[in-house]
Amino acid sequence: MTIHVRVRAERSPGEKRVAATPDSVKKLIAAGATVDIEAGAGAGSLITDAAYEAAGARIVQPDEPIEGGVLFHVRPLTAAEIATLPAGIVTIGTLDPFQNAAAVAAARDAGVTSFALDLLPRISRAQSMDVLSSQALLAGYRLVTLAADAFGRMFGMTMTAAGTLAPARVLVLGAGVAGLQAIATAKRLGGVVSANDVRAASADEVRSVGGTFIDLDLGTAEAGGGYAKELAEDRARRQQELLAPHIAASDIVITTAAVPGRAAPRLVTTEMVAAMKPGSVLVDLAAESGGNIEGSVPGERRAVVVTGGVVTLIGARDIQSDLAPDASKLYAMNCVNFAALIMKEGALVLDFDDELVSGSVVTHDGAVVNERVAAAVEGVPA
Ligand SMILES: NC(=O)c1ccc[n+]([C@@H]2O[C@H](COP(=O)([O-])OP(=O)(O)OC[C@H]3O[C@@H](n4cnc5c(N)ncnc54)[C@H](O)[C@@H]3O)[C@@H](O)[C@H]2O)c1
Repeated sequence: MTIHVRVRAERSPGEKRVAATPDSVKKLIAAGATVDIEAGAGAGSLITDAAYEAAGARIVQPDEPIEGGVLFHVRPLTAAEIATLPAGIVTIGTLDPFQNAAAVAAARDAGVTSFALDLLPRISRAQSMDVLSSQALLAGYRLVTLAADAFGRMFGMTMTAAGTLAPARVLVLGAGVAGLQAIATAKRLGGVVSANDVRAASADEVRSVGGTFIDLDLGTAEAGGGYAKELAEDRARRQQELLAPHIAASDIVITTAAVPGRAAPRLVTTEMVAAMKPGSVLVDLAAESGGNIEGSVPGERRAVVVTGGVVTLIGARDIQSDLAPDASKLYAMNCVNFAALIMKEGALVLDFDDELVSGSVVTHDGAVVNERVAAAVEGVPA
């Protein structure tokens, strides 16, 4: 028996990642799969069709119908794409199901078994398949290189015979996977880095990567599962007030704060940006989900006028695609490691007693089986 795996060429403009590499293709074939790659799927990640063929894959045209088996993808599939899939196919990729009710409803009605890797429980056994972590890690690094590029000065303290250059003062708000990687990267460049977060564990985590934790004495806000909870309005306002002097004293502000299922918390207001020194830089990872920084626009680098000059405000968009070869390499291995849970001796075996399988499945056998998603999708027609 063999399992047929199809790897999609991503359709979203600006998306350069791909859900398989020649190495991951070899692993899938060793696990009993045949692999079809849509022509050009790896181009944005510098992987040629010939490299996939050399690994044992077949190249197919993107419009060639899918015969069943498993479909790997990076971005959430659209409802229109899902409607063309054969019943019983298994899809593995990100779904962002709470923002994509129409696609979830389409998967339900098409009889597709869809797995959302972005819903995997964040437990140790899931680490090798955790796309949120692998992609956030790269995002954290990229935020700092974007900031360094826009910052017209050295990051690290530099002593020369002609004088000493002061180090950049970097503030990171939100110290999850992306924020911790941003702290570590800014530190390696020589910045003086401090950070704030609302989870109890974050103070130690910030210190462990070389940052100084700023304790605002606000108390913690946790929702369980390692995630933050939204702050009530008065505490959120207090957090802004307490952060204001730290932001004004920073050369670089990097924001990565998120609360699952909610708009990103607003941490930096226009007034706080206006109080920064000319030449300062702000980079907002949350620009696409509401913005931690007021006025940040996804994919835009804006000059904001302040007393004596301008500061640069960068809204992140698709930033993992800026590092597509690395992002694809990690994403592809996440997919293979997840597929190993459901591919047994050349056959698909869905063990819903496994919490990683049951925690990430969204639709199966014509129903939305994830209860939280089902509530969000209720009543959405196909
Ligand atoms: N055990 C594992 O395998 C594993 C793997 C990866 C992540 N995790 C954990 O999962 C959790 C989520 O990580 P993530 O990076 O996906 O988080 P995320 O993207 O949901 O949020 C990013 C950060 O923003 C913070 N935040 C939210 N509101 C804030 C506010 N008002 N001010 C400041 N910060 C705010 C959160 O606490 C979080 O640290 C973390 O606890 C992380 O340690 C566990």
